[in-house]
Amino acid sequence: MNKQLDILVYGSLNMDFVAFLNNLPKKGETLSAKEFSMIAGGKAANQAVAASRLGSSVGMVGRVGADYLGEQLLMALKQEGIITDQVKSTPNCNTGIAMVSVDEFGNNMIVTDKGANAFLSKEDIKDSEELLRASKAVILQLEMEQDVAEYIIRKARKNKKYIVLNLAPIVPIDPEVLAMVDLLVVNETEATQLSGIYVNEFSSAKVAAQEIHTKEIENVIITLGENGALLSFPSAIEHYLPPKVTVVDSTAAGDCFVASVTSFWIRYGDLGKAVKKAVEVSALSVTKKGAQSSLPTLQEYENFIVKETTQ
Ligand code: RIB
Repeated sequence: MNKQLDILVYGSLNMDFVAFLNNLPKKGETLSAKEFSMIAGGKAANQAVAASRLGSSVGMVGRVGADYLGEQLLMALKQEGIITDQVKSTPNCNTGIAMVSVDEFGNNMIVTDKGANAFLSKEDIKDSEELLRASKAVILQLEMEQDVAEYIIRKARKNKKYIVLNLAPIVPIDPEVLAMVDLLVVNETEATQLSGIYVNEFSSAKVAAQEIHTKEIENVIITLGENGALLSFPSAIEHYLPPKVTVVDSTAAGDCFVASVTSFWIRYGDLGKAVKKAVEVSALSVTKKGAQSSLPTLQEYENFIVKETTQ
C-alpha cells in the first residue's frame, strides 16, 4: 500500500432505520411514521463519507457483520472511493444498527445496537498500521470500546499523526491519552459532561472550553447546533455562526462537522478557516434527510456559499 491518504477514520458503521414523524414519541406512546427509510450511517462511516465528498482521500477501519446490511454499508463506502481493506467482516454477528426517529423540525432520537462495531479490536488496529502510516490525520469517535480508542490514540501519536477526537458518545478516557489529542470536538452535552459546567450557549461553552484546556488539550471545539461552533485555544476564543437554513434532519450534522473541519484543516493549515467552512457545510447537511444521504459534496458546498453570498 503506497498510496498516501489524507484521513484515516476509525469506528462505527451502522445501518440506520429511520422513521420520520410529526413529533418524537413520548414514554409509552405508539406512533405511525409518515415515512420510513434505511440509510447508511454510523458516526465513523458518516465522517469518512463526508471527508471523501469534500475531496479528501480517506481510509476506514471498522467492522461489519457477515450479512446483507454489512455488504450494503461496505458498498456505500466503496462507491465513495474510500479505502475499505481494513473494514472487516465479522462472522456470526449482526452489523451495527441505529433506530432513528426524526420529528418535523429535524430533531432526532437515536438508539444504537453496536453489533459488529463492538468487535473492533487492538488486533484490527495493529493490522491497519500500514494505512495509519500512510495517513496525515486520524479521526475517531467512541462507538467502540474505550481501551481500543485509547490504543488508537497512542498508536497515532507514536506515528506523529494529527489526532481528531470526537468524544461522542462520551466515555471516560485516560487523561494521559486525552492529552495526546490535537483537536477535540464535542457538542454541548459532551462538553457539559467533560467539563462539569452546564453548556447551553456561547458564554457557558467558553467557560467549559477553558476547563477542558486544563486537561492539556490545546485545540477545543464545542459545537452549538444552530449557534454554530466555538473554537477555543488556551489564549483565544473564536465563534463561528452558521448561515440560516431550514432544518429538515439534523442526523449526522455533528459527523459532517468533524469530517469537514479535519478535511479543511489539512488542506489550509488554518483551524479558524476550517471551522468557518465546517459550520457552513454542516448547515447545508441539515437541509437533507438521513445520515450519509445528507452529506454535501465540495461542489454542492461551493454552490451553496455562492448562493448565500449573492442573496
Ligand atoms: O451521528 C449520527 C449517527 O449516529 C447515525 O448515523 C447513527 O448510526 C449513529 O451512529
